[in-house]
Amino acid sequence: MNQIDPSTLVLFGASGNLSRVKLMPGLFRLDQAGRLPDNMAILSVGRGEVSREAWLADIKGMLDAKFKNGYDQKVFERFIARNHYHANPPTDPDAFNKLKARLSDVQVFPQNFAFFLSVRPSDFAQVVDQLAGAGLTDETGGHWRRVVIEKPFGTDLKSAQELQASITKHLKESQIYRIDHYLGKSALQNIMLQRFANTVLEPIWNNQYIDHVQITNTEQLGVGERTQFYDATGALRDMIQSHILQTMALTAMEMPKALTPDAIRAEKIKVLEAIRPIPVNDLEHNAFRAQYAAGEINGEKVPGYLEELGDSSSVVETYAALKLFIDNPRWQGVPFYIRTAKRLHEADTRIAIRFKKAPLQLGGGQHQNWVIIGIQPRECIKMEIESKIPGLDIATRTIELDGANRQPGDETIDAYEALLLNLMEGDNSQYLHISEVEAQWRLVDPVIEAWTKDKQPVHQYPAGSSDPAASRVIFEREDQFWRYSIALGGDTLPQ
Ligand code: BG6
Repeated sequence: MNQIDPSTLVLFGASGNLSRVKLMPGLFRLDQAGRLPDNMAILSVGRGEVSREAWLADIKGMLDAKFKNGYDQKVFERFIARNHYHANPPTDPDAFNKLKARLSDVQVFPQNFAFFLSVRPSDFAQVVDQLAGAGLTDETGGHWRRVVIEKPFGTDLKSAQELQASITKHLKESQIYRIDHYLGKSALQNIMLQRFANTVLEPIWNNQYIDHVQITNTEQLGVGERTQFYDATGALRDMIQSHILQTMALTAMEMPKALTPDAIRAEKIKVLEAIRPIPVNDLEHNAFRAQYAAGEINGEKVPGYLEELGDSSSVVETYAALKLFIDNPRWQGVPFYIRTAKRLHEADTRIAIRFKKAPLQLGGGQHQNWVIIGIQPRECIKMEIESKIPGLDIATRTIELDGANRQPGDETIDAYEALLLNLMEGDNSQYLHISEVEAQWRLVDPVIEAWTKDKQPVHQYPAGSSDPAASRVIFEREDQFWRYSIALGGDTLPQ
C-alpha cells in the first residue's frame, strides 16, 4: 500500500455533478476504508460565497443521496472535519492570490497540493495559468503540485496540442494527471493481469490463433440532459477516442518490462501508435455511424435523439463502430472491431476474442472458440469450447467455462475512487500520457472530419434494438459478425 503525504486536495467545480455524484462520495469511501491520512484536507472551490456550515450540510446531502443505507457516523465526522470551502468568483481579478493566501494557512492545509479541475474544458488552460500566476504550481519549495485535467483533453489533435503547450508552460508531465475514468475500473486493470499471468492465454493471444477481436460498449441510457454537449461531441469523440481505444490498448499491448507507470504506459503508447490510420477514401467499409430513433427500453417508450435535441437536422452519431488494424508482428492481419452505442437493448461492455477455426471440424459446425472478458456490468472471463455431447454419437456442442472475477465479499470500488487514491499517492499509471491522447486523436480526427463534412442522412436504429444491421458493412468476411450478447449462444441473434 502506498502512503499519502500530508496534503490538500483542492476541488474546482465542487458543486458540479461529477463532484456530487462521484468525487465527494468517492473520497468519503476512501476515508471509510482508512486510506486517507489524518493530515489530508479537502478544499472545495466554487464560484459563489457559501459558508462552511452550509457547505458541510451540502456534503451531507450528497452522501445521503449516494449511500441510501446510511454510513458510519464516526467516519462522517472525520470526513466532515477535513472539508472546507473557498469562493473563487470568476469576476475577481485577485481570486487566485486570495486562494493562495487561504492555502497558506499551514495549520489547516498541509502544503502538498493536488488541484482537481472539474471545470468546463474550455477553462482548463486558463485555470492552470491562474494557478501558476499565483505561484501555486511551483514545486521549488519541496512540496508537490499536481493538476488533474478532466476529460476531454482537447476536442481534436490540434486543440489537445494547444492545451498541452499551454499547461506545460507551468507544469512538468509528472505533475499532469489526465483522466480517462475507464482506467480506474478494476475490470480494465485486470485485462493486463489476466493476459500476462496466465499461461493458457498469453501464448495464443496473437494473429496465429485469433481471427478477430470485438470491443463492445453499449448503454441503455440515452444522452439525457447533455444534449448540447453531446451534439457537439458525438459517440466517436465521447467514447471511442479514449475509453474504447484504451481498452483496446490494454487488450493488445506487449508485456511491460515492469508494473511501473512508465513501463505500462510505454507499451500502451506503442499499440496506439501502431494502429493503421483509417482509410478515409474507403470510410464506408471501415467506419459506421447511426443515431437512435424513438423506441422502447425495458417496456417503456423513449424518444429519439432528434426529439430530445429539438433539432431534426443533426447527423451526430450515437452509435459508432470502427474496424482497426494494428501493424505489429503480434496483430498483423487481425481486425479489431470496436463499437459504442447509446440506447441499445442492453448495457454491456466486453471484449470478445474470436479464435480461428479449429483443425478438427466435426458435424459441419464452425468450431471457433470465443474468449470473452466482461467489463461491466459483469466482471468475468468466459471461454466457449467444443465438447462431446454424452451419448452414442460423436457430436459436439459449445459449453462455457465461466469465471466470475467478483466473489462475495469483494470490495466494489468506483473508478473515481481508485483514481483519486492514485492521485494523492502520486501514481499516474492509470492516467493518460500526452502521447496516448495525441495518438488517439490522430486516429479518430480524420473520421470525425469526414463525417462532419458529409451531411448525408445518418442511419437510424430504434431505441432498444440490438444493433443496426447495416453496421455489418465494416466486417471483412461473411463469417464475422457482432456477438449479440455475452451469454452462451450470444453469437446468434434470437429468432
Ligand atoms: C463518459 C461519457 O465519459 O462515459 C458518457 O461522456 C458515458 O457519455 C460514460 O455514458 C460511460 O461511463 P460508464 O463508466 O458508465 O461506462
